Amino acid sequence: MDVIPGGNPESKELEPDPKSTDADQGRAEERVQTFQRIGGPFVAAVEATRMPMVVTDPTMSDNPIVYVNQSFIDLFGYCREEVLGQNYFFLAGHDTDPEVERHIRAAMMADEPLDLEVRLRAKDGREVWAAQFVSPVHNDQGRVIQHFASFWDITRRVKAERRTRRLNEVLESRVKERTQELQNELDRRRALEGVLTDSVREKDKLLGQRSVLLHEVNHRAKNSIAMAISMLRLQMARQGDPGVSEALENAIQRLDHLARIHELLYRQDSNDVQSVDMAAYLTELCLNFAHLRSPEDHRIELTSDADDITLNVDRAINVALIAGEAVTNALKHAFPGKRRGMVRVGLHQEGDDVVLSIEDNGVGLPATRRAGSMGMRLIEGMARSLNGTLTVDGDRRTRIAVRFPSKPRS
Ligand SMILES: Nc1ncnc2c1ncn2[C@@H]1O[C@H](COP(=O)(O)OP(=O)(O)OP(=O)(O)O)[C@@H](O)[C@H]1O
Ligand SMILES: [Mg+2]
Repeated sequence: MDVIPGGNPESKELEPDPKSTDADQGRAEERVQTFQRIGGPFVAAVEATRMPMVVTDPTMSDNPIVYVNQSFIDLFGYCREEVLGQNYFFLAGHDTDPEVERHIRAAMMADEPLDLEVRLRAKDGREVWAAQFVSPVHNDQGRVIQHFASFWDITRRVKAERRTRRLNEVLESRVKERTQELQNELDRRRALEGVLTDSVREKDKLLGQRSVLLHEVNHRAKNSIAMAISMLRLQMARQGDPGVSEALENAIQRLDHLARIHELLYRQDSNDVQSVDMAAYLTELCLNFAHLRSPEDHRIELTSDADDITLNVDRAINVALIAGEAVTNALKHAFPGKRRGMVRVGLHQEGDDVVLSIEDNGVGLPATRRAGSMGMRLIEGMARSLNGTLTVDGDRRTRIAVRFPSKPRS
C-alpha cells in the first residue's frame, strides 16, 4: 500500500496473523452471515452502489473483512469468499509501505476517521489507486464495532498525473540540455568575439603605426625636396648664364610642385594613407597653382572637376605630376598678353578606365609647336607609367588627356 504522492514503497508479504486462530476464522464467517442477515435493506443499497465498500470487524482478532459489496468485487477481481475474513491489509498487496500501514492502524486504533489516497492491488496484480475513507461505526455504548471503508477509484487520474510528471521531467531535462548547449554556444561565441576584438585592435594599432610611418615618409620627402630646391637656388645665384638660370628655375618649379604633392599627401585626413581621394586632392592641387599667378591676376580661372575616384599613392602622384605640367603649360603659354580664359582639370571614370584631362580655351596647341623641351616629354613618360594613352588636341583650344585603366595591372 502506498500513499500519494510517491511514498517509499517497501516490499512486504502480508503474512496471515499468527494470532489468528481457526476459531476466529469460524467466528468471522458467522459474523459475515449475521451482518448480511441483519443489514437487510441497507446491504441491498450498498450492493447497488457503484462505490466499492468494505466493512471490517475490529472486535475480532486482526480486524477481518466481514462484508464487501459487488462494486468492490468488480474492481479488485476477488470473489467474495477470498476476501471475507481477511485482514484489511490483504488488499495492499506485497509492497505495502510500512509507514502507511502504521498510519492506518493507528487511526483505526484511535477511533478516528481516515481519509487517504492509497495504492492497492487487484487479484491479477493490477495497481489500483483509491481515495479511501474509513469511518468507525459505534454501538450504543460508544464502542467501535465496525470499520466502514469506501474506495473511489482514482487510478486513471494518478496514472495521468504520473504521465504528466514523467513528461515534465523529460521536458525539464530537455530544456536543461538545450540551455546548456546554448550556454556552451554563447561561451564559444564570447571567446571568439574576444579573439576577433583583440585582432581588430591589433590591426588598428598596426594600421595606425603604418599610417604614422607613411606620413613621416611623405613629410621627409617634402623636406628633402625643399632642401634640393635651396641647393638649386644657391647654384643659380652663383652663375650668370640666363639660359642656365631659366633651366634651373624650371627645375626648381618642378621640384616645388613635387614638394606640394607630397605635402598634400601627408596632410591627408584619411587613415588609409595608401589610397588617395582624388577629387579632394585635385581641388587642393589647383588651389596650389595660385602661386603661379599674381594675386591680382584674375584673368585665368582654374577649376577642377573629378568623380569619386580613389587611386593608390603612386598613381595619384603620376596624375598630379601630369596635371602639374599641363596646367603650368596652360598658364604659361595659352593666354599671352592680357588674354582671359579658363583652365579645367577633370578626372572621370569611363567604364574600366579613368580619364585625366587638362583643357584650356587659350591659343591652342598646333602639332608644329608641341615639340618643346621637357614638359611634354615628362607628360608622355608619366602617361606610360600609368599604362595610359596620351592624346593632345590643340586645334582651337588645347585638351591634353590621358586614359588609363582604373585598376593597376598586376
Ligand atoms: N596649353 C598650351 N597652349 C599653348 N601652347 C602650349 C600649351 N602647352 C604647351 N604649349 C606649347 O608647347 C611647347 C612645349 O611645351 P613643353 O612643356 O614641352 O615646353 P615648355 O613649357 O616650353 O618648357 P618646359 O616645360 O620645359 O618648361 C611650349 O613651349 C608651348 O609653345
Ligand atoms: Mg612646359
